[in-house]
Amino acid sequence: MDQQVAAYRLLDGKRCSDSLKERIAIEAAEVKLMRGRAPHLAAVLVGDDGASRTYVEAKVKACESVGFRSTLVRLPATTSEDALLARIDELNRDPELDGFIVQLPLPKHIDADKVMLFIDPRKDVDGFHPVNVGNMVLGQPGFLPATPAGIVELLRHYGVATSGKHCVVVGRSNIVGTPVSILMSRNAEPGNCTVTLAHSRTRDLASITRQADILIIAAGKPEMITGDMVKEGVVVVDVGIHRIEDATRKSGFRLLGDARFSEVAAKASWITPVPGGVGPMTIVSLLQNTLKAARQ
Ligand code: GUN
Repeated sequence: MDQQVAAYRLLDGKRCSDSLKERIAIEAAEVKLMRGRAPHLAAVLVGDDGASRTYVEAKVKACESVGFRSTLVRLPATTSEDALLARIDELNRDPELDGFIVQLPLPKHIDADKVMLFIDPRKDVDGFHPVNVGNMVLGQPGFLPATPAGIVELLRHYGVATSGKHCVVVGRSNIVGTPVSILMSRNAEPGNCTVTLAHSRTRDLASITRQADILIIAAGKPEMITGDMVKEGVVVVDVGIHRIEDATRKSGFRLLGDARFSEVAAKASWITPVPGGVGPMTIVSLLQNTLKAARQ
């Protein structure tokens, strides 16, 4: 009888980010020598959303691990839009600060587009300002958004061939789906894919995901991609991360991605774990952008 062996390999974002962080730490020390201070990132957190707090704390901790300075700006959920813009104005002008991010989502009474537009593009290390989005689309220098850039870095690190492949992206958010579809179609390596961008209005999603050589899932729905929706040998990048209550776990919850891991991994050649896939890569891209800002 044939023995079943796991054929898939892990796109291990934790390992990849650890090795990239070693390089960043060396370069941060160089910047400190040249400029007399370490690269400095600030994160603005408005309100008390638990997931946002976890992400922001992880970003601040990552700064410490590579010798960056970091500042966490915590503002109450009741902060007015004007008060937030005034705080951003201070950060824009602060000569001791290289870059900053405003963690999303913002409370409903604040217009996030207006806030993004107010950030100085030279300090916009999230790459969300229209100037940086435009530069990305045109292939000009600028800050790339952290999660899409991290996905590309992960594919590069593991030598996954992308040129001429069919990349299907599920989800069209401004933060992940739309920009990653642009990066994967660029005339660059990794890149040069034929890209299909699927979303909530896509008809017969499974018939499209089954055509994917590379499947990037950023739809925000736990386990929406099942084994029957992918072909043998697919490369899967799962951006989703969902806390699901689970009384059998000591923590009281488990983390699920947008793909049903066991089924999809059984057919995949490469797949990201959740957690430990895309998440650590997002953080390392933010550090890379901050380093770049500090050098400018
Ligand atoms: N919310 C979810 N992802 C992100 C991100 O990459 N940056 C910011 N600022 N907010 C987010």
